[in-house]
Amino acid sequence: MRIGILTGGGDAPGLNAAIRAVTRKALAEGMEVIGFRNGWLGVLDKNFVPLGMNAVSGILYRGGTILGSSRTNPYNRDDGPETIRANLKELGVDAMAPIGGEDTLGVARRLSNEGVKVVGIPKTIDNDLYGTDYSIGFDTAVEVVMDSLDKLHPTAEAHHRVMLVEVMGRNAGWIATVGGLAGGADAVLIPEEPFSMEALYARIRKRHQEFGKLFSIVVVAEGAQLDIDGPVTSSKRLDEFGHVQLGGAAHTLAPQIEANTGYETRVVILGHLQRGGGPSAFDRVLATRLGVAAVEMIKAGRFGVMVGLRGKQIVATSLEEGLGSDHPVDKDLYDLVDLFY
Ligand code: F6P
Repeated sequence: MRIGILTGGGDAPGLNAAIRAVTRKALAEGMEVIGFRNGWLGVLDKNFVPLGMNAVSGILYRGGTILGSSRTNPYNRDDGPETIRANLKELGVDAMAPIGGEDTLGVARRLSNEGVKVVGIPKTIDNDLYGTDYSIGFDTAVEVVMDSLDKLHPTAEAHHRVMLVEVMGRNAGWIATVGGLAGGADAVLIPEEPFSMEALYARIRKRHQEFGKLFSIVVVAEGAQLDIDGPVTSSKRLDEFGHVQLGGAAHTLAPQIEANTGYETRVVILGHLQRGGGPSAFDRVLATRLGVAAVEMIKAGRFGVMVGLRGKQIVATSLEEGLGSDHPVDKDLYDLVDLFY
């Protein structure tokens, strides 16, 4: 049995831990593993590296991915899916275990429907996949946000400022909500709960005037939506999967907050720092469990599924179901923010 693995889409801390887990479990089962470089592009180009004990040694704690990544969509290319099927056959790959988010696993779903044997492993700092409670990389991204808010609190307080902190997450407010709760944010603006600027101004004023708190920390998700005007920012730059490149929401909102509250407002964009550094303990263990489970699925001949975490259990969900719905922030969790400003 020969397994092919790849990492596609935006990188996430814990990818290397998953690569290591798949490889070590497969070797223990007497299987072979090859790693395609740069996501689905590596399968199209037959760009791969054999993975053995040495190749995956010393990578558990490293961020990024030893295999490289890309946002290549084979379904955008002439003969893309046919080339993938032919290359997998030529290289003797019996099953694929792609590690990715909705795009990379979306390709896996289509290939699976066309006969390729696939078990998907979910990663994305956005945590926006229905098929798992937590995806690899999310917990580490939240820690980056929490650490950043811890660092921003004293300076915001010293200068009596509003700090507007922009975080990633595309159309999901998980990083903003959980990072904001962990870091004691006074307001969190997310895509799932379109917000009113007037209510935000009122909250900031209330902190100053009623609570005597002369600073505020506001977390804004890059895909945040206004109640009347829709997305705070939009862009014309699309990737191969048709996603707009987001960013800049904080710069759009900061002058409005300053003008309407009268309080000096500064912007901090955490950007790719949220994908950087080594994975948290939670992400290392999650990636390890998911990687091992993927090999177990392959061994058992269960294809067309993604592995995921439900409660404390690792489960398999069909790719159709796991990718078929959104995974919005829990409203109850989001509402907690309102208690702590
Ligand atoms: O999907 C992961 C993610 O980090 C999103 O949160 C963000 O919008 C996007 O990737 C950024 O992608 P890139 O690194 O290609 O700019």
